[in-house]
Amino acid sequence: MDERDVVAGGDTDDSHGSRVPPPQGFLEQATVTEDPRPSFENNWPACWSAAGDLLEWDDPYDAVLEDGEPPFYDWFPGGTLNAAYNCLDRHLHAGRKNRAAIHWEGKDGERRTYTYRDLYVEVNEFAAGLRSLGVEEDDVVTIYLPMVPELPIAMLACARIGAPHSVVFAGLSASALATRIEAAGSAYLVTCDGYYRRGDAFNQQRKAENAVLSVDHDVETVVVDRLGEALPHVLGRDQHDYDTLVEAHAGETITPVPRESNDMLFVMYTSGTTGEPKGVVHGTGGYLAYVAWTARTVLDVTPEDTYWCAADIGWITGHSYIVYGPLALGTTTVLYEGTPDYPDRDRLWELIERLAVDIFYTAPTAVRAFMKWGTEYPSRHDLSSLRLLGTVGEPINPRAWQWYYDHIGGGECPIVDTWWQTETGGMAISTIPGVDDMHPGAAGKPLPGIGVDVVGPDGTAVEAGQTGYLTLTRPWPGMAKTLYSGDDRFLQEYWLAHSVPEAGDWRYGSGDAARVDEDGYITILGRADDVLTLAGQRFSTMEIESAIVGVEGVAEAAVVVGPEGDDVHAYVSLEGGTEPSAALEQSVLDRVELSIGRFARPRRVVFTPELPKTRSGKIMRRLLEDVTNGKPLGDTSALRNPEIVGEIRSTIDQE
Ligand code: WT7
Repeated sequence: MDERDVVAGGDTDDSHGSRVPPPQGFLEQATVTEDPRPSFENNWPACWSAAGDLLEWDDPYDAVLEDGEPPFYDWFPGGTLNAAYNCLDRHLHAGRKNRAAIHWEGKDGERRTYTYRDLYVEVNEFAAGLRSLGVEEDDVVTIYLPMVPELPIAMLACARIGAPHSVVFAGLSASALATRIEAAGSAYLVTCDGYYRRGDAFNQQRKAENAVLSVDHDVETVVVDRLGEALPHVLGRDQHDYDTLVEAHAGETITPVPRESNDMLFVMYTSGTTGEPKGVVHGTGGYLAYVAWTARTVLDVTPEDTYWCAADIGWITGHSYIVYGPLALGTTTVLYEGTPDYPDRDRLWELIERLAVDIFYTAPTAVRAFMKWGTEYPSRHDLSSLRLLGTVGEPINPRAWQWYYDHIGGGECPIVDTWWQTETGGMAISTIPGVDDMHPGAAGKPLPGIGVDVVGPDGTAVEAGQTGYLTLTRPWPGMAKTLYSGDDRFLQEYWLAHSVPEAGDWRYGSGDAARVDEDGYITILGRADDVLTLAGQRFSTMEIESAIVGVEGVAEAAVVVGPEGDDVHAYVSLEGGTEPSAALEQSVLDRVELSIGRFARPRRVVFTPELPKTRSGKIMRRLLEDVTNGKPLGDTSALRNPEIVGEIRSTIDQE
């Protein structure tokens, strides 16, 4: 590894716990109890028809995988299908029309249930509405909605007419939205008047309007009335009311547009190591097959289940495992708009009890919060409906793992620690719950058909137990097709840097550092690049730092994550003649909120005369992280200004 080294993940108790076999009760009904890995190995890539066969195709595919110029591969080429058809229509014929597709729990205690038929009807009507506004196949529709049912409805309506969606997390700022609308050349936007956050009404429409104002082209906007009387709103030019639009197309059905398997289903913007977000493009057939297959194999989702992934649809987790995977499998998926501690800290457990949730999937940062709040909250509720628990987004430290296992799972639910990324589309490393022992702290083994190599800077595999870069050595159906901005950047970002230059070699660089243990289990150590994880989502340090540097008087900034796991700590040096002040601190906070979003607002701003740097001038965030988290300092010998770390530490201690 280079001098940047890796960002350590999780708590300090990262020595592994002992192995835990799958609980007996789970094994008795598990969907997958025999390891598919050997047969996948012997039969690769044809093995992936197991995923393709979970879908209904209009035209069958000619082959499972067609070699292109690496890393461009076509999955299920020649096959045509429609994702909305696969998530809705086919379940109507399969006797599930009156089963719940979505249970929605709003922030103010509102509840709505959509059966598969209800969802089918509204998706069709909104698809007709979008068409009437001029949306055609391949037009990118931007969706900027909180966790309301209209969000998956809009996604599926787009999928039905072959218009790729670009969902932008509702908490992102107007300027972040504008960048994404512009980058995708999107002329359509679906948003809402506002939404509740911890009981307060927030204005979303204003943010959307500000974004549209700074975009170079016209944007036709649909506004969902989320707040009614709580936030009266008026519609401006180019704005249409969602309900009126749907009513105008009441009862209409739209023939699902057949898409070639490799046509774009959606684009999802995520952070890279530079400030400019990357538009990760996912195809239709390979992606949908992969998320359905992994939801079944790893999360054990069946059509009979009530399944809850407590993530936001504004990120890939929600796309793959709230919307597409579960609905393709015909299960009941829970959509939760609120936060875990409002109105009280037992909100999630109350919901699990009331809905009799079978499967629960969340982020380790949430588990750590539950652990801090204490067992009194889960113990007030009957959680015995739960069969399986999952985590995603960052490493889960063994202590939090154990707490989750004991107090939420009652010692009877396997935990799957699933490693994947926006670019992988779906899970790539995990245990298979009815097959593998769990190893708290280690994510698990490569899933069937997935090849993993942990390599050194020269691209050759490191020995077991050694830290290196996590690379994937074979294509898989869920992998991103390209970046919206073009193939060149796609190659640069993921392939060239980590590839071994020998001919025919194929290697996807994940940007994570990892270690393979003797038993083949993979421990993820965190990002190897300048990317930080906030509440399980990826942000580049540079995005936040460039916002801070935009404040007058600021010379340089470095941000790291603190002990809470999602608290940003900013270290800021000032230009000559500028003195630290409360006003300046406020400007820093405001600027971050304005250019990224409230959730990225630093918890603490520390002014320092200099930032710790290597001799080559790179900021050593790792040391700032040690200081922030009260850890013993790592090696400071590579520093040009080693004394500054001590100074920063004493500044913090005095506060
Ligand atoms: C990054 C991807 C995948 C959906 C959520 C975030 C980290 C993800 C794990 C895990 C350790 C994990 C990695 C990865 N990550 N899952 N189980 N253990 N780290 O998607 O925003 O694309 O971020 O999240 O660092 O590269 P994303």
